[in-house]
Amino acid sequence: MGNIISVVMAAGKGTRMKTNKSKVVHKIYGRELVNRVIDTAEKVGSDEIICVVGHQKESVMDAIGNRAKFAIQEDLLGTGHALMQAVPYLEGKRGKVLILYGDVPLIREETLRSLIKRSEDNSEYATIITAMYDNPTGYGRIIRDVDGRVVEIVEEKDATEEQRKIKEINSGIYCFDIEELLEAIKEIKPNNAQGEYYLTDVIKIMSEKGLKTGALIVEDNTEILGVNDRIQLELLTRVLRMRINMEHMREGVTIEDSNCTYIYDNVKIGKDTVIHPNTTIKSGVVIGENCEIGPNAYIREGCVLDDNVKIGSFVEIKKTKVGKGSKVPHLSYMGDCEIGENVNIGCGTITCNYDGAEKHKTKIGDDSFIGSNVNLVAPVNIGKNVVIAAGSTITEDVPSNALSIARERQINKEDWSLTHKKTKKK
Ligand code: UD1
Ligand code: CA
Repeated sequence: MGNIISVVMAAGKGTRMKTNKSKVVHKIYGRELVNRVIDTAEKVGSDEIICVVGHQKESVMDAIGNRAKFAIQEDLLGTGHALMQAVPYLEGKRGKVLILYGDVPLIREETLRSLIKRSEDNSEYATIITAMYDNPTGYGRIIRDVDGRVVEIVEEKDATEEQRKIKEINSGIYCFDIEELLEAIKEIKPNNAQGEYYLTDVIKIMSEKGLKTGALIVEDNTEILGVNDRIQLELLTRVLRMRINMEHMREGVTIEDSNCTYIYDNVKIGKDTVIHPNTTIKSGVVIGENCEIGPNAYIREGCVLDDNVKIGSFVEIKKTKVGKGSKVPHLSYMGDCEIGENVNIGCGTITCNYDGAEKHKTKIGDDSFIGSNVNLVAPVNIGKNVVIAAGSTITEDVPSNALSIARERQINKEDWSLTHKKTKKK
């Protein structure tokens, strides 16, 4: 087998997004649409990734950086024309090319693997991902011959009344044989209702040459949904949320209300952990078994929670390690912090990790008890088995086994009100 090259189309205008940047750099769960597509292209083992950019290309190129090579499409003359811009990268290569869209971010790695596998197993020169839609309006229709072989894709605007009734639609995602694609693309002409170079024309060109073409009907239609406006962006975010949450539930995590639990990509959560509502967990976070998170918890990047940890309500933690059995039950901010085992962090306690210029670290040893409303001014080290009195502002290290009190003493002035609160005396 030869190479796998992925071409990501991202030159189109996002008129309906009403945006000053390209629509493909809008984010879904913190990741640009186009970068999600590139993530997936990488996961299927692409040897090379080419992104076709045009409209507002700077924003796209900035977001992608050196993860892809760029082909620039100056005039947007259609999907065939977009692919023509990538031809210099494909010439002389053998193997398969995957065509992906920068605004179709939910396509799964497994589906692309099945697409490539089908094209190899059936020796197809073009394999299309298709779907069955009750309302196929707007999409290219898949035309099959009497034996069910795919022979052509007809765009809505060029379709006959009969063809418009076809419910099998073109997703726009394909796997092509590189060499035959390069031959076919030379023959595309803009002789159609839209005066565009249609990439879809290569299917007819190939099948007329006697080159086998086929289709993989996707099971889950949400994989091929595109983003054209902000309403669709929100819809896709919901789809992604359910997809991720369901994966965790299947692995033994309890999620009380999936509608308001926001777990980003690449989060690991152990068995029997319970996630209460209104919890957000960012990418890369690792949570152990039997933990309790939320409600209203915000677990940011770089956090690692060991087993039996509790992170309660209105708690934000960032770049923080929490050891086995430790608890941060309410109203805390822990940033750049290393918390040992069996530590209790009192209500309202925060780390003062930022001095306006730099972030500093806080360490808290095993079995320590931090009273309520304590300010831990970093950098600071709290030893093991320490008790810190409520309301303390800790600026210096505390040795193990110590009690630390860092607050003004209380003074009670007796009978003060009798002389000072004259109005009340009446
Ligand atoms: C295309 C397919 C159609 C399919 C549909 C699925 C063609 C001719 N038609 O429709 O069969 O059902 O996708 O969504 O291919 N793009 C460029 N440069 C261009 C034009 C488009 O980069 O000049 C990119 C867009 O940014 C987008 C993708 O290609 O990511 C698809 O473009 P779009 O205009 O949405 O698709 P259609 O041509 O309408
Ligand atoms: Ca406080």
